[in-house]
Amino acid sequence: MVRRFSTAAPENAKAILGEKLKFPSGKTAQNRFLKAALTEMLSTFEPSKPELNGIPTQQIINAYDKWGNGKFGVILTGNVQVSPVHLEAPGNAIIFKEGETSARREAFKNWAKVIKQDGALAVAQLSHGGRQTPITVNKTPFSASDVQLAKEVRFIGFGKPIPLTVEQIKTEVIDRFVYAAKYAYETGFDGVQLHGAHGYLLAQFTSPTTNKRTDKYGGSVANRQRIILEIYEAIRKEIPASTGFLVGLKTNSVEFQTEGTTVDDAVEMCRAYEKIGFDFVELSGGTYEQLAFQHIRDSTRQREAFFLEFAEKIRPVFKNTVVYLTGGFRTVNAMVEAVTSGATQGIGLGRPITAEPDLPKKILFGSVSSAVYDALDQNNFSVSLLASNTQIEQMGRNSLKEANNEVTYGLSDFSDEETVKRFGKAIEGFIELTKTQASQGVAIPAVITFEGVKV
Ligand SMILES: Cc1cc2nc3c(=O)[nH]c(=O)nc-3n(C[C@H](O)[C@H](O)[C@H](O)COP(=O)(O)O)c2cc1C
Repeated sequence: MVRRFSTAAPENAKAILGEKLKFPSGKTAQNRFLKAALTEMLSTFEPSKPELNGIPTQQIINAYDKWGNGKFGVILTGNVQVSPVHLEAPGNAIIFKEGETSARREAFKNWAKVIKQDGALAVAQLSHGGRQTPITVNKTPFSASDVQLAKEVRFIGFGKPIPLTVEQIKTEVIDRFVYAAKYAYETGFDGVQLHGAHGYLLAQFTSPTTNKRTDKYGGSVANRQRIILEIYEAIRKEIPASTGFLVGLKTNSVEFQTEGTTVDDAVEMCRAYEKIGFDFVELSGGTYEQLAFQHIRDSTRQREAFFLEFAEKIRPVFKNTVVYLTGGFRTVNAMVEAVTSGATQGIGLGRPITAEPDLPKKILFGSVSSAVYDALDQNNFSVSLLASNTQIEQMGRNSLKEANNEVTYGLSDFSDEETVKRFGKAIEGFIELTKTQASQGVAIPAVITFEGVKV
């Protein structure tokens, strides 16, 4: 029996969270829930044959077979890369013209199809790793400027980046995002979300910590966000809003860094996103240098959502663009409060829905009033990240039918302390493996295969 937070849901929870959200370009989400992007690292990865990398596997299809029956309004994919040599991690899905094959197209079509089974809108999150590409994947990645990320993630560092020329901003970034957006459109997705948060390439442009440019892409807020607006316009030239295809953005509300994007910057940028016509903006925060997927300030702890106080400042800017807030939501109470207080319209969920892929369905049915209360260290994002990726891998081992129509079939219960202890041991083994691989310069997907149901 899984443990949960002991709170009762307010009377109006089902009515409020079940409300539809209409996007400016015409489509409607069936309720307020958003499956946040969660990198799967389950696509093909063969270092010697890069053109075959990034094809979504049956494991991904199986995992989304579960979320696609969880009654979300919108389901985002994990970050899909637009450049084969700029990844967030090995095993990312990739869309790139050099890798065009019928197998890739078929896989993306199947992916969109399973997502939409119970009425969710399927949205592909498009990203470019920029300087946050592991050095094992690319020693000289592109970025806005040559500011190197002086940090290791799982014992792997990051190369000194090469600043993109103005010409390359067009050919290596804008054109690639447009190609991927068109591909998503053609393969049946309802939209795309540009990943402009968490320190990836687009955030490298918007943040003064990483953007030292003196041309039209650097300096003022308007210049730093120019690349995002240009990508938006270039996508809309190919796929106009009249098609109903959604174009959204994930952006940082704050970065908690001395020179980082401030909430005032975010307000100014969001004004431009509203004006140009983005369908939705999902508010998040933090970078690799300053992770923020836990409570940085005590003031937000009670209200759960990590970025709530920043969302409250940004929210008034939006009139047509739909706002989602992601990070920290665990109880129905807090979700309803965030909506009724006007801080957000949509509720993004990440880690809770790897433990329970049908959490929105249960909330809307009234059978639960919170997420699973896991026994993992809540102040250690790396551990909860690994746990979530393990659960995604477990979701991927069988289709919903093979799982006797039970979406939680074979998922580790991290509310159980004994399971958490065993997982701790698995992490130790994984750390050893990762260290060895890193010392040999080999990149591997950061997914721990752990217990669950064997296939
Ligand atoms: C396993 C895992 C993978 C993630 N991958 C992505 C990603 O691909 N793109 C992204 O924008 N955010 C990613 N995130 C961040 C989540 O979308 C979300 O913003 C964060 O987990 C906070 O929400 P939560 O508290 O509900 O988990 C990831 C988080 C986790 C735990």
